[in-house]
Amino acid sequence: PASTTEPVPGLPAVGGVPLAELAERYGTPVYVLDEAEVRDRCRTYRAAFPDAEVVYAAKAFLCRAMAHWADEEGLGLDVCSAGELELAVTTGFPAERIVLHGNAKSPRDLDTALRLGVGRIVIDSPSEIARLAAALGPDGHQKVLVRVVPGIVAGGHEKIRTGTEDQKFGLSLADGHAQHAITRILDQPQLELTGLHCHLGSQITGVKPYLAAVRRMVGLMARVHEQHGLVLPELDLGGGHGIAYRPGEDALDLTELARRVRAELADACATAGLPVPRLLIEPGRAIVGPAGVALYRVLAVKHTGGKVFVAVDGGMSDNPRPALYGVRYAPRLIGRRSTAERAPATVVGRHCEAGDVLAADAELPADVRPGDLIAVPVAGAYQLSMASAYNLVGRPPVVAVRDGVARVLVRRESLDDLRARDVGL
Ligand code: LLP
Repeated sequence: PASTTEPVPGLPAVGGVPLAELAERYGTPVYVLDEAEVRDRCRTYRAAFPDAEVVYAAKAFLCRAMAHWADEEGLGLDVCSAGELELAVTTGFPAERIVLHGNAKSPRDLDTALRLGVGRIVIDSPSEIARLAAALGPDGHQKVLVRVVPGIVAGGHEKIRTGTEDQKFGLSLADGHAQHAITRILDQPQLELTGLHCHLGSQITGVKPYLAAVRRMVGLMARVHEQHGLVLPELDLGGGHGIAYRPGEDALDLTELARRVRAELADACATAGLPVPRLLIEPGRAIVGPAGVALYRVLAVKHTGGKVFVAVDGGMSDNPRPALYGVRYAPRLIGRRSTAERAPATVVGRHCEAGDVLAADAELPADVRPGDLIAVPVAGAYQLSMASAYNLVGRPPVVAVRDGVARVLVRRESLDDLRARDVGL
């Protein structure tokens, strides 16, 4: 990440504090977040999309401080459970800037959203319309968007593609489900349909799918106008903005995205004879991913089967992404200088399965040994938020660093934490 300065080779620092010092102070594994970089990324989004509402997708990473930073930087928040919603609101995040998502919202999700007064609820299935209307009662009022499946293939991995009909999210445009749902929403006086939503997928590195989405969504807005005489004031294009995990990889160019989406939207709306709607975007990964680094201690080094296995004290319980999506990271040795040549190594975790691999094709100094520190950059998104209690290892803490000062945001999960839930015997 850009802000990872390197005062001494092999000894990188974040926010002015050497990573090796943080590993000593807080133990490993530990996740370090560069607060200034998170805030910079929020600001970059707001500057690139000055007329849009930038809604941070909390699923990428959420804790109270993160919600607070997003609030201070003027972002909205995309949540998909009562848990994320309550956590944000109890931090003081204004509920009206929160968007509730979910393909299977529980009664608790909907009740919490209505009780706390979320700004918008994104309708994802036909049955949700009646449920929401019933939960609101005859005098209730709620702004809603409809999640539309535009039929666009995009996204870094099959499991994170959501723009096509063969997955669980949203209401299809092609087979008329979206239009049907819109008609039903308009029949409910408590529901105020403010616009359409689509989310194509995640880790998208080109702008073209977004431009295609703009065309299709404006096409549907035009049909809504024809059929119901209604001008929808909002268009939410979701998130999915790709980042580089390893040197040399492509990231989505935000400035280009903003410029071309704006032009496409203006053109499509002019053709359709519609005013340009207010845009919402929902970046998660691109806000927090590059601002995080995971630190591990090497516990064992083994030469076997023609490979070098470097086993660290974390693994798939704190980062399930390589096992789930086969994604690649670029781990590096920190904390000491090595003059040894770099050699291929497989960085593995400590969990009880062979698939617990953090980086299958790492390049590390050939003299890497137990006790060394390994840093995995670009670790801020979808790692801790998807962490598990596998093997009762306990989830790592989150330490934020800013201006040379480090502080714990989320403490390490202890055996007592884990035991507290275990109430049988
Ligand atoms: N909006 C909606 C409705 C979403 O479902 C998501 C992500 C986002 C926004 C934010 O997408 P982002 O900008 O972060 O790509 N666990 C996977 C990613 C799953 C994304 C789920 N939805 C991973 O680790 O790659």
